[in-house]
Amino acid sequence: MYFEKTLKTFVYVLFSALLGLTACQSEEEIKRQQYVAEGFDLYKKSCMNCHQTQGEGMANLYPPLAGSDFLTASNKALVICGMRNGFQHPLRVNGKLYRQPMPGNTALKALDLAVLTTFLYNEWGNEKKITDVTEVEKALTKCP
Ligand code: HEC
Repeated sequence: MYFEKTLKTFVYVLFSALLGLTACQSEEEIKRQQYVAEGFDLYKKSCMNCHQTQGEGMANLYPPLAGSDFLTASNKALVICGMRNGFQHPLRVNGKLYRQPMPGNTALKALDLAVLTTFLYNEWGNEKKITDVTEVEKALTKCP
């Protein structure tokens, strides 16, 4: 009798914990999707002219973002700095050298950069997570 009761309590506690966990995960997931959507809006306004609708880039002028070997986790701080301050030096993307500088965009606030980075890396950088404002601010303090 006593055993049965503890078992029931145990199952109940386990079940609530699991429920709590999935609720929490889906909140994270909703937030991630919001970041991606807001990032895409900003992409359309600030980046698409050059990098194009599908991130395919344009000839020798603008490098692609889709399939870009530059969009790695270890380059993320560089990408954040690049959006804010521009890229002044030639960059090699997928083996091809691009020599045009990219203008910086100082109007982009830390939160804008966070949603943009989340969009870029979820769409084309094989990530399924948020890049948050804290990470962006940290990257901005170390820009080259
Ligand atoms: C005026 C055109 C232009 C605009 C606008 C622009 N870029 Fe670029 N972008 C470039 C060029 C040109 C390069 C290559 C720079 C170099 O070689 O130094 C580049 C390079 C990059 C790279 C690194 C190389 C790659 O293809 O992976 C990323 C990432 C990038 N841009 C993202 C963005 C994002 C995000 C925005 C919007 C916030 C943006 N760019 C706006 C022209 C532009």
